[in-house]
Amino acid sequence: MISTNAQTKLLGLLGNPVGHSLSPIIHSNLAKNCNENYAYLAFAVETQKLADAVKGGYALGVQGFNVTVPHKKEVMQYLADVDDKAALIGAVNTLVRTETGFKGYNTDMPGLLRAMAYDGICLKGKHVVILGAGGVANAAVCAMLEADVAGILVLNRTVQKALELADYFNRAYGTDKVRAAAFSDDFYSVMEKMDSDDSKQSWIAIQATSVGMYPNVTQCVMEDEKFYKKVAVGYDLIMNPAVTMFMKRVKQSGGEAYNGVRMLLFQGVLAYELWTGHKISDELATKVLHILENN
Ligand code: ATR
Repeated sequence: MISTNAQTKLLGLLGNPVGHSLSPIIHSNLAKNCNENYAYLAFAVETQKLADAVKGGYALGVQGFNVTVPHKKEVMQYLADVDDKAALIGAVNTLVRTETGFKGYNTDMPGLLRAMAYDGICLKGKHVVILGAGGVANAAVCAMLEADVAGILVLNRTVQKALELADYFNRAYGTDKVRAAAFSDDFYSVMEKMDSDDSKQSWIAIQATSVGMYPNVTQCVMEDEKFYKKVAVGYDLIMNPAVTMFMKRVKQSGGEAYNGVRMLLFQGVLAYELWTGHKISDELATKVLHILENN
């Protein structure tokens, strides 16, 4: 058992299931290395008990929660306040204790930006293709707009979801940078049009679907070789396996490929910073990253 005393402050995770979460490893290592007296526990909470869990956590003095699937939207109604960007994304993954209740934040979005910066990926003025239009893709589109990329193409199996996502963020940011197509459409003509608008030839691809996740490790949402010839950097938001089929294909065609572990790490780092007010150095983040990678 970790060593606790009467001054230990509690942090936790609300989700269902939570048994495979890496968040306890992230936060216990951050607290240990920062010499801070926090304990972090994962709570499996059923949706119908979520209101009680938030209220009970507040009554018990819990300093902060992470929130994961399936509660990221649902939890918003039980909060005293929601940060503007989290409200825009429509999902909260971090609760911070305030005088009146918990305030909700979304650290997935800035977590992706911090992870990409950590990996030395420059986004400003680049073209980004996002595969997928679900919750993760939503945070990724918002992140790319925040990073002031030149253009974003959202590709999804269900084109309606991609169109809605593009329209939503174009309106919110007063832009027309976000376009959408189905995997089955001739999306190359859209890419080529975007290329000719800015005379840029290489793309950053963010893989934000669940295709290729363990145990379906041989699957890949994009099979076409022509696609990978356009991609200089492939960022798969999947963590398991560490090297996905998508990453293999990016590498085979000469691009750099990354998995989703750093996004997970940095959304946790940003949550820890919100809870404690302490800035986590890249040096400490690297130490925790190695622990996650060897877990
Ligand atoms: P998350 O919150 O992880 O993004 P989600 O909101 O359920 O989860 O979204 C999953 C994404 O993976 C969606 O873009 C989904 O495509 P659809 O909108 O067409 O459902 C995509 N996805 C899941 N399984 C897929 C498959 N077999 N082929 C293509 N895309 C798939």
